[in-house]
Amino acid sequence: MKSNLIKDVILNPSRLPSHVAIIMDGNGRWAKKRLMNRVLGHEQGSQTVRSIVTAAREIGIGTLTLYAFSTENWARPKSEVKALMMLLKKFIVSERQTLLKNNIRLNIIGQKHKLPQDVQNEIDATMALTINNDAMLLNLALSYGSREEITTAVKKIARKIESRELSFEDITQDLISDHLYTKAMPDPDLIIRTSGEYRLSNFLLWQAAYSEIYISDTLWPDFTKDEFIEILKNFQERDRRFGKVTCSTSNGG
Ligand code: FPP
Repeated sequence: MKSNLIKDVILNPSRLPSHVAIIMDGNGRWAKKRLMNRVLGHEQGSQTVRSIVTAAREIGIGTLTLYAFSTENWARPKSEVKALMMLLKKFIVSERQTLLKNNIRLNIIGQKHKLPQDVQNEIDATMALTINNDAMLLNLALSYGSREEITTAVKKIARKIESRELSFEDITQDLISDHLYTKAMPDPDLIIRTSGEYRLSNFLLWQAAYSEIYISDTLWPDFTKDEFIEILKNFQERDRRFGKVTCSTSNGG
């Protein structure tokens, strides 16, 4: 996929985030402002997903994680959950060939087994078809919650200790990371949240230890490729110190 994006917008290719994670918020408010049903906000939000996946691939982001459905979202009205599942299925089927053509691999983080069987089947088909793609990893966080992820990881480790596959001394930060859904992925360098809310909402809590966070006031259905690029430019201007001091300054914290 050829693109002039990097040249046109002066993004520095050597300072691109390897992993961008997005909390796609504001679909409901977008619909409410237009006196529309919330589901129409999600539908419009799916269009934004398409354009941001394409943009991320063009720009050269290695991993893009989208928070599409949380463990808490099951508590929404049945009709909204059903509509969201339908939209997901539609997206996964309609984007299958595009993902393949653009060398994007689809992966799910979260409780995939809790999704309706027909959605799981389409996900499995797209994951299998794109398994060898290596230009970008697209993670959809579905029935995802950090606390569930960490609890499951702790249980898996405990079981391995019980069966003597591991010993107590083997427990390290790397071992814990290796038992999360994001095993073998870089931690997110940048987490974007739309709709002006300042919270992480149970998203990648372990992995976000040193993530840069950007809050946009834009509601997700209105979020554009241009704003995405502006945010990446802002990221490139930040001084990431990981708790240390930088070479250029001695009074950083
Ligand atoms: C938050 O907005 C958004 C969600 C809970 C779902 C995100 C889903 C999509 C963007 C569409 C389907 C996804 C894919 C991958 C095709 P909200 O409903 O909480 O908005 P509000 O805070 O304004 O009510």
